[in-house]
Amino acid sequence: MILDQLAIPIVLAPLAGGPTTPQLAAAVSEAGGLGFLAAGYLSASALGAQLAAARALTSTPLGVNLFVPGPAAAPGAADRYAALLAAEAERAGSALGTARSDDDDWDAKLALLASDPPAVTSFTFGCPDPAVLAAVRAGGGESWVTVTTPAEAVQAAAAGADVLVVQGSEAGGHRGSFLDDPAADLTDGTGLLALLQLARSRTALPLVAAGGIATGAAVAAVLAAGASAAQLGTAFLRTPEAGTSAVQRAAVASQTPTAMTRAFTGRLARGVRNRFLDEHSEHAPSAYPEVHYLTAPLRAAGRAAGDPDLVNLWAGQAHELSRELPAGELVRQLGAEARAALRAAEGRF
Ligand SMILES: Cc1cc2nc3c(=O)[nH]c(=O)nc-3n(C[C@H](O)[C@H](O)[C@H](O)COP(=O)(O)O)c2cc1C
Repeated sequence: MILDQLAIPIVLAPLAGGPTTPQLAAAVSEAGGLGFLAAGYLSASALGAQLAAARALTSTPLGVNLFVPGPAAAPGAADRYAALLAAEAERAGSALGTARSDDDDWDAKLALLASDPPAVTSFTFGCPDPAVLAAVRAGGGESWVTVTTPAEAVQAAAAGADVLVVQGSEAGGHRGSFLDDPAADLTDGTGLLALLQLARSRTALPLVAAGGIATGAAVAAVLAAGASAAQLGTAFLRTPEAGTSAVQRAAVASQTPTAMTRAFTGRLARGVRNRFLDEHSEHAPSAYPEVHYLTAPLRAAGRAAGDPDLVNLWAGQAHELSRELPAGELVRQLGAEARAALRAAEGRF
């Protein structure tokens, strides 16, 4: 398994929407971790170009992450939200986008990856059909599935996943839940340490731990709790190789707290609090990707104008501990810190 071959058990989280670049993925793999490309929002041909670019930079293994298409939103949900956002658009001097549904080029991306498989294909926002997971394995790669509850872990294991990415509620960006269920919000999400223990009690599959990991000590903590590797997203957002926007880099470096919201995309995600999140979270429907397309021009206008209050500032709870360092250097630093933390912990006994 790839996880057994990593010199440093650190996995770059896929970071769709700009931060992921071939340079970032290659730098993490070259340093002894596992780099990932994020296929979300890309066309299949753009994904093919990114994969070729990353492979030109490294011959080490790489992963590719796909969004699993979900059910259509309730009719009219995005339209009602659009009416509430009209004043925002006027203020920003921007039009709202057209709310529409799509499958993120699912079939074409699967076909592309089947023709030239990466070492790992990972899935979020749902558990693919067992046939999809079996096809990944038949192509010589591993299939990883993101889970956010013990029940999802059981379902993914039964479907034939090779590895589970256990995403705690601390995590930045979209929650990888199989369903974006507003009723489930009342549970507040399960934190990473609890979820790791629960997932381990229900399945023997290798686990990769994600959510709020920003230091080598936290990498050590999840390894001690039974994970085979730690997956970090926010920690890499300030590296020079990442395509992170200037407004997001500043937010990630700040001490402003995060919150969960559907305001930007219609799917629950964690980001640094700003005016848009605070004013619209209460009214935002579960309607992904409709709301994603609706707000896309507003968010682009915010990024272009350097106005953080209009932008989805995805980040995990420990974002203020992120470092502005080359990605390879960050992997090596975190690895050294994790080794020291494990030695110190052992010394307590
Ligand atoms: C900017 C950003 C984009 C993300 N995009 C994706 C994605 O495309 N696919 C995915 O599975 N997870 C995505 N995530 C979630 C990460 O995979 C991971 O669960 C999260 O970064 C872990 O928490 P951390 O950010 O505190 O390290 C994203 C997270 C962030 C911060």
